[in-house]
Amino acid sequence: MTPLELFVAAPPGLEGEVAREISEAGFSGVEITGGGVMLRGGWHDVWRANLELRCASRVLVRIGAFRVVHLAQLDKLARKLPWSDFLRADVPVKVDAVCRRSKLYHAGAVAQRIETAIHEERGAHISSEASVRVFVRVENNLCTVSVDTSGELLHKRGFKESVAKAPMRETLAALFLRACGYRATEPVFDPMCGSGTFIIEAAEMAAGLKPGRARSFAFEQLAGFDSEAWLAMKAASDLPHTALRFSGSDRDAGAIRASTANGQRAGVAERVSFSIGDVEDIQPPEGPPGLVIANPPYGARIGNLKALYGVYHALGQSLRERFSGWRVGLITSEDKLARATRLPFDRPGRPVDHGGIKIRLYQTKPLS
Ligand SMILES: C[S@@+](CC[C@H](N)C(=O)[O-])C[C@H]1O[C@@H](n2cnc3c(N)ncnc32)[C@H](O)[C@@H]1O
Repeated sequence: MTPLELFVAAPPGLEGEVAREISEAGFSGVEITGGGVMLRGGWHDVWRANLELRCASRVLVRIGAFRVVHLAQLDKLARKLPWSDFLRADVPVKVDAVCRRSKLYHAGAVAQRIETAIHEERGAHISSEASVRVFVRVENNLCTVSVDTSGELLHKRGFKESVAKAPMRETLAALFLRACGYRATEPVFDPMCGSGTFIIEAAEMAAGLKPGRARSFAFEQLAGFDSEAWLAMKAASDLPHTALRFSGSDRDAGAIRASTANGQRAGVAERVSFSIGDVEDIQPPEGPPGLVIANPPYGARIGNLKALYGVYHALGQSLRERFSGWRVGLITSEDKLARATRLPFDRPGRPVDHGGIKIRLYQTKPLS
């Protein structure tokens, strides 16, 4: 069987880190493109990518691609796509289209032609509520048609019900942990842990827990899905034993309640601990040094910039005085705030979009 073409969507600016995760996970033919990573494989790889990748936003499978300059041509070519290899007649479908720099510029008309082709050639109903989605992109007169295999975005692991202020997406948290060199072999501490996202991601990685273990995926509703093989893949695990512990603190009692509840739901309660405390008073967790990671509040989002200088300064002072041997990864939107910590940061990482704000990762080597 010809291999499928997979597109793994990544947060803009972090395609390289996502590609590294994909290669390390043993996938082959990995190639970085705008907005994501292409690779080739079978359905088994599609399921595994959804189940195991921590940093990807979603996984699409290419149905077909062709050049097109007018709607009648689109109508004809869309009917020839191998719809029955991907879609079931009894599962409704939704079509999303975008057009860029092309003779076809009306995305609504493009979507409608594809919907008609799906309905008439495959018999599937079209519904705006459908959980199976077909994405159509017409760019420079090249029409690419893909089916989404993820469904809800992959940062929705299915565990975070309790949310404190300004939570980080799990996929972004995993990307920043990786960018800090975290490979599940050292302790991690987050002194401003909010709903505990960094600590729970780090603990899950160390416990060998697959991020998609508890959620459903759109591929379960596609043609030819083999539920027995999928259940066997989910059940197969090679859990590493680790004594590593992961901890977080926050001055907000609600954040600590949320983190504790999220850690329990994720099944890492015995590896994580959360406590109330101000950054002024933090102490390094017992045991060997590891990684301190935090995204303190930023001016534009919560709090006001001036008041935040004091918080960043206090965080920096505690870390400089008491965290010898620990590396620091700090995520913030303001260079001035990062500098207020007086920590010896290397050059910051590329800006990454976080809910409309550009944030960067600032990293130190082990503190002296
Ligand atoms: C942007 S949120 C962190 C979000 C977190 N990474 C998550 O994914 O949920 C910043 C957190 O810093 C905490 N915080 C602010 N000032 C603090 C201080 N002086 N000491 C400790 N925590 C503080 C806030 O309570 C808030 O939970």
